[in-house]
Amino acid sequence: MELDKLVHDARAAFAAVAQPAALENEKARFLGKTGSVTELLKQLAKLSPEERRTQGARINSAKEAIEALLAERRAQLAEAELNARLAQESIDVTLPGRSRPAGGVHPVTRTWMRVEEIFRSIGFEVADGPEIESDWFNFTALNNPENHPARSMQDTFYVDARDAAGKLLMLRTHTSPMQVRYARTHQPPIKVIAPGRTYRVDSDATHSPMFHQVEGLWIDEGVSFADLKGVYTDFLRRFFESDDLQVRFRPSFFPFTEPSAEIDMMFTSGPNKGKWLEVSGAGQVHPTVVRNFGLDPERYTGFAFGSGMDRLTMLRYGVDDLRLFFEGDLRFLRQFN
Ligand code: FA5
Ligand code: MG
Repeated sequence: MELDKLVHDARAAFAAVAQPAALENEKARFLGKTGSVTELLKQLAKLSPEERRTQGARINSAKEAIEALLAERRAQLAEAELNARLAQESIDVTLPGRSRPAGGVHPVTRTWMRVEEIFRSIGFEVADGPEIESDWFNFTALNNPENHPARSMQDTFYVDARDAAGKLLMLRTHTSPMQVRYARTHQPPIKVIAPGRTYRVDSDATHSPMFHQVEGLWIDEGVSFADLKGVYTDFLRRFFESDDLQVRFRPSFFPFTEPSAEIDMMFTSGPNKGKWLEVSGAGQVHPTVVRNFGLDPERYTGFAFGSGMDRLTMLRYGVDDLRLFFEGDLRFLRQFN
């Protein structure tokens, strides 16, 4: 009788609570360490073995009944909670959607993509390399003498870390170290461009501390300065989608090319006609550098160029201050998309 009442009480107690936490408190009252069922089980010790068996079996079946009631009520409460949440979080599918504005390609990125496309179409590979560079790749392997002004603290961003030779690492000042990295790991014919970010302590309307260059390198038997002129002039005509431009190879100096030139271009029609603008350094690769590639300069020759992709972008779109490219002003950037 006492056990039947206990099961009855548990059913009533479980039914009376509305929250899962409250149900767990009720559970403790019946099945917990000091709960009624546990207390009854403790008292079995005082009974004779005979009584203990029969009474023990009864208590256990009452306990099982209470556990079943508990499980049932738990499931009911969980379902009620879920239903309440579903009702509360209902979605009004008739509300207008939130649109996400379409992004656009940055004008310098567009130049980068076009440069890759044009050079790939004439058989150049595209290579990529580190922006943090060692003194050897950035300067020494490119035949820069130890005291060359390009190495000075005024022109170069040095990094507070050293290479295996104990020299300070730096942010590469040009993409030319990629000539060395690529040529030392590939066999001629070497025909590659390496576009990427470069860094110098520079800042005015046509110079940015971070800018983009694309390096070009073609090394094989019998590749000459004449090939440079043909390839580069053709590249500019395709890049600007115009034959109305003139290209000038102006004598210049780079330690890693001999002869060296700055490549200038001028539109011969349109709003920007009549003004020469420098777009690239270039030249026949210096024999010492070919040797640093691990190749015999008596057998292999070729040309290299390093062009400013921000400058090419300025020319293509008629932008007169390259800092506009890096200020992130959407009113400026939207014009290109
Ligand atoms: C060089 O960097 C050489 N490494 C180029 C080269 C490569 C010569 C291979 C020979 C053979 P220069 O410092 O002139 O050269 O830079 C090349 C181009 O990068 C420039 O013509 C210009 O278009 C661009 N440029 C240079 N400095 C900046 C700057 N601070 N901001 C934007 N563009 C720049
Ligand atoms: Mg220059």
